[in-house]
Amino acid sequence: MPRASRKKASGTKATIDTLLKENRRYKPPSSFVKTATANKSAVYTTAAKNPTAFWAKMAGELVWKKKWSKVLEWKAPDAKWFVGGKLNVTESCLDRHLTNGNKNKAALIWEGEPGDRKTFTYWDLYRQVNKLANAFKSLGVTKGDRVAIYLPMIPELVIAMLACARIGAIHSVVFGGFSPESLRDRINDSQCKLLITADGGYRRGQIIPLKHDADVALADCPSVEHVIIVKRGDFLLRVKEGRDHWFHRLMQEADQYCPPVYVDSEHPLFILYTSGTTGKPKGIIHTCGGYLTGTYATSKLVFDLKEDDVFWCTADCGWVTGHSYIVYGPMANGVTQVMYEGAPDWPDQDRFWQLVEKMNVTVFYTAPTAIRAFMRWGREWPDKHDLSSLRLLGTVGEPINPEAWVWYHDAIGGKKCPIVDTWWQTETGHIMITPLPGVTSTKPGSATRPFPGIEAKILDDEGKEIKKGGGYLAITKPWPGMLRGIWGDRQRFIDTYWSKWPGIYFPGDGARIDEDKYFWILGRVDDVINTAGHRISTMEVESALVEHQSVAEAAVVGIPHELKGEALAAFVTLKDGVERSDKLCHQLIDFVTRKIGAIARPDQMVCTPDLPKTRSGKIMRRLLRDIATGRVLGDTTTLADPAVIDRLKRQYEED
Ligand code: WTA
Repeated sequence: MPRASRKKASGTKATIDTLLKENRRYKPPSSFVKTATANKSAVYTTAAKNPTAFWAKMAGELVWKKKWSKVLEWKAPDAKWFVGGKLNVTESCLDRHLTNGNKNKAALIWEGEPGDRKTFTYWDLYRQVNKLANAFKSLGVTKGDRVAIYLPMIPELVIAMLACARIGAIHSVVFGGFSPESLRDRINDSQCKLLITADGGYRRGQIIPLKHDADVALADCPSVEHVIIVKRGDFLLRVKEGRDHWFHRLMQEADQYCPPVYVDSEHPLFILYTSGTTGKPKGIIHTCGGYLTGTYATSKLVFDLKEDDVFWCTADCGWVTGHSYIVYGPMANGVTQVMYEGAPDWPDQDRFWQLVEKMNVTVFYTAPTAIRAFMRWGREWPDKHDLSSLRLLGTVGEPINPEAWVWYHDAIGGKKCPIVDTWWQTETGHIMITPLPGVTSTKPGSATRPFPGIEAKILDDEGKEIKKGGGYLAITKPWPGMLRGIWGDRQRFIDTYWSKWPGIYFPGDGARIDEDKYFWILGRVDDVINTAGHRISTMEVESALVEHQSVAEAAVVGIPHELKGEALAAFVTLKDGVERSDKLCHQLIDFVTRKIGAIARPDQMVCTPDLPKTRSGKIMRRLLRDIATGRVLGDTTTLADPAVIDRLKRQYEED
């Protein structure tokens, strides 16, 4: 029966244990400090004294049509940044590079998985974005309309996002690995008018049939009036007359110039869906002025971006990391970037290092789950390549275990590159807790300190500050990139983020603070699983499972996993008369994969006659987690029927 590597498990919990013993320190190398944009600790103290002045200075480095009259208006939980300011974010990301010497500089060096390559200068990108913006307009898209983007990691994805921004439309990027149903729900939630997709995309040599999947979704998406299809390959598809349009045809017909639509600083730039603790994904809203300021400032100071850097963030634009650190932050800095379509182990396990060598990547940003995979594949793969162009490394997405940190430092960074372990979320928009590579000494496994202008604390349930030790992470002052709401659900916005303590943002993570005031993130405290750096709501997987005709009830928990950090273990109660079989377990796993996508694929599927519940009927996931990880059971006194546990344990062993 399908099963995760239970015995080998050494994920999150183990990380927490080792963290306690961690006392290695890494000072920023003096050669790095010499040239770093931020290289004095005064940057922290100055910003702490007057955070709004710090942010205003950063915002002042961007292009504004009309300057703001007030930096911040804060009435918890609502923030307005750069009040009265007007801008179009594409002017900072594109237009200004036409006159500041960047015009013919490579903006994106893209490589497809099969090895095809395209380079776009800032001028090329500018023209493409203008044309696509005109094409959008010709299909009736105007300011404030929502546009769904369902594309592989190809340049057109970046172009589509910026084209929306050019005309004040709101993009909603849906990760290309999501299923038709996930796409459908996201389109319907924000009532997208247009969908842009591709005939297909490559992943590990396979073709992902995006347009086909989109058609399945669109059968039930009445708001979508038009579909644009990018031709990535020669993949067969059906075109629906009147609704579907080829990207290249529209681009041929479109005008070269599209005047930027100037919007209020607080106009929404995009919606991005993320998992929460209830079944329905949350449409996180980000706005223009503050978000751009935050992503610009953090790209500049955390990645220390310079004129001749080649930056590679390996994230997909379907996630927030791709939004903030491929599209908006780096482009506002005018840097050259690498973008890659496919898998890191295709055709071989050195594809990333080949790219780093070939493109002379200087700053590299990836996720701990990827680093753990590289470790497992072995040093021989990076060792085959000259990685000496690298000068700075970064990680994001989940806690990094110190072994992986040190491996990354040695095997990839050649012991000379600082590492920035950056903590942030879809909701925060940009990096919040991170070292500054030319200032902060690092400790493997710690994201170190809040970025200048950010105030974070560790609080207990009552909101009392914990000066040393573990508790809940809290952000105690507003910041420019903060989410402005959940699309269509004001109450959920308040309940999820602003109800734990008055006026203080609760990110849902546990953390520890040490004697040097360094933060150590311990992971999610809610029912969200962080698998391979992506947040999956247990509820979402459970609702998918109970849709299956054989399933009566389901509970899903995260269990430590060597590579993914956490994997999903599903416990299901079958309907009366349905017999457990290996075939059925496989069917259920496939069912979830089809409903949500491969990222939600359970590694374990356990059928059980009952689930452990409290007397009020709440499933006790904590106990399931204990069973799945072979731990001594925690407090079972609140169980309605203690005998359930023994039956479950037996069942688990048998399965
Ligand atoms: C986790 C990704 C520890 C955390 C940008 C957070 C991290 C969630 C780190 C957000 C880190 C992200 N160290 N944990 N450096 N970075 N996380 O919304 O639990 O996909 O709440 O945003 O990932 O995931 P999201």
